Amino acid sequence: LKLGVLISGEGSNLQAVIDRIEAGSLDATIELVVSSRPSANGLKRAAKAGIQTLALSPELYTNPEVADEVIANQLLQRHVDYVVMAGYMRKVGPAILAAFPNSVLNLHPALLPSFPGAHAIEDAYLSGVKVTGVTVHIANAEYDQGPIIAQEPVRIEEGMSLGELEAAIHAVEHELYPDVLQLLAEDRVRMDELGVVHILPAG
Ligand code: GRF
Repeated sequence: LKLGVLISGEGSNLQAVIDRIEAGSLDATIELVVSSRPSANGLKRAAKAGIQTLALSPELYTNPEVADEVIANQLLQRHVDYVVMAGYMRKVGPAILAAFPNSVLNLHPALLPSFPGAHAIEDAYLSGVKVTGVTVHIANAEYDQGPIIAQEPVRIEEGMSLGELEAAIHAVEHELYPDVLQLLAEDRVRMDELGVVHILPAG
């Protein structure tokens, strides 16, 4: 399975994918890491793992359509099967979505459709819900929408701090995203005519 990973910041989820690949339990290669920010720490993680990187220059950053076409072309050239958003703080535009139909994935730190948006962990925490979690879904033109592939709950225990919840969410993300990528590598993910995703049994 050939992957392109889109990041903007820390890149801990990128690292989790790299670690699984290196451990031999994820049957994939990362062909390119694209960062919307040249200063993203995730670019260092990619370079350390010997992965090619592309950082959007400020000029490109301010021109979303052009940026999107550049990214789509770079990923197409490398024949990636899936575009994996991991903390990518921009919307993927029509050029990428058209080049990779139903093959752009997003990771969201809440149980969608609850708490979409950029502050999902804090929003859930402040709302008083007792269970939140992590969602992996297929991205479409709307933020944090699109068919859900996998979700994992995280309980908000009495007395838990926001920092503790963040740590718990990130720990789940670092397992769930590589797990989903392995399901894709095993060709076990299907979408039905209603747009509902099903996971086929192993073997
Ligand atoms: C993750 O919490 C992800 O769910 C959200 O942004 C964060 C990215 O973290 N979309 P990292 O850059 O992978 O460390």
